[in-house]
Amino acid sequence: MRSLVLGAAGMLGTDLVAECTRRGWETVGLDLADIDLTVPTQVQKLKDRDWGSFDWVFNCAAYTAVDKAEEETALAQRLNGIVPGMLASLFADMKWRLVHISTDFVFDGGATRPYREDDPPNPQSSYGRSKLLGEKLVLQSNPDALVCRTAWLYGPHGKSFPRTMAAAWSAGKPLRVVADQTGSPTCTLDLARVLCDLAALGPAGGLYHTAGPEEMTWHAFALRSVHTYALANGLDRPVDIEPITTADWPTPAKRPAYSVLDTTKVASLGIEAMRPVDASLADFFTLLGTP
Ligand SMILES: NC(=O)c1ccc[n+]([C@@H]2O[C@H](COP(=O)([O-])OP(=O)(O)OC[C@H]3O[C@@H](n4cnc5c(N)ncnc54)[C@H](OP(=O)(O)O)[C@@H]3O)[C@@H](O)[C@H]2O)c1
Repeated sequence: MRSLVLGAAGMLGTDLVAECTRRGWETVGLDLADIDLTVPTQVQKLKDRDWGSFDWVFNCAAYTAVDKAEEETALAQRLNGIVPGMLASLFADMKWRLVHISTDFVFDGGATRPYREDDPPNPQSSYGRSKLLGEKLVLQSNPDALVCRTAWLYGPHGKSFPRTMAAAWSAGKPLRVVADQTGSPTCTLDLARVLCDLAALGPAGGLYHTAGPEEMTWHAFALRSVHTYALANGLDRPVDIEPITTADWPTPAKRPAYSVLDTTKVASLGIEAMRPVDASLADFFTLLGTP
């Protein structure tokens, strides 16, 4: 198997390159320093350079600054919407299959049960709208592509919520975390495994939900994160995190109140579910070291 990872230096991309390599797949990883995907002449390098052909391309490159996207709307639409569509069309021509990563933020959060792939999206933020545009353009120009929605990512190679919580708790800072938004925390180590399992299987193109197996609020996730960190480091101090509401913590971008992803479709392909949050968090903190 030969694979190409775009966004290879990002939080997910780094673990994906490692997972592909661990499986013995010949893997090329590229990031902004190699190719700016918003520049068409640079994108041409993907087919002109002497890398040979690929069985799978994983597109993890994205504009991921959710709040900043409210102002930088055009840039977010370009990198998360237009560019994935152009890449999907190029890879369809090259006969390289594509896994494109999308988000739970395409949903409005009004559901009362986990979102399935065929539930209607209704993004509430500029970032969510840009990612939804990407989903649509990718599948329009390349129906064989797998568009994998994921959520609440954390991994050892980037800034993440559990890392921020552990660092703040270690520093003795008071912690206040929203308790009225519920989602699916997902470890990039587990997601990389599931994305590679999907590629190895090669199912039909379309939407797939690839997220962690447990639903919880940010407040519950903060508690689980700090407890796991404390346990891993033999620290025996009380963990006191004040639950607050979204209204107490206003942000430029609106987040869905409920964006849990139903992963039944991927499970029905025989792909093993991701690990429970505590097991993934323990692994995450071991690899991270000092937060
Ligand atoms: N993080 C989450 O909680 C979350 C949740 C749901 C879905 N997702 C999706 O999951 C995917 C991976 O997210 P992530 O958190 O791993 O993202 P990330 O760490 O921000 O990685 C994205 C990578 O893309 C690169 N990039 C930015 N602009 C580029 C350009 N013009 N050309 C080429 N590369 C460019 C970035 O480089 P620079 O760092 O140098 O800009 C970065 O290395 C994204 O599609 C994201 O939308 C993320």
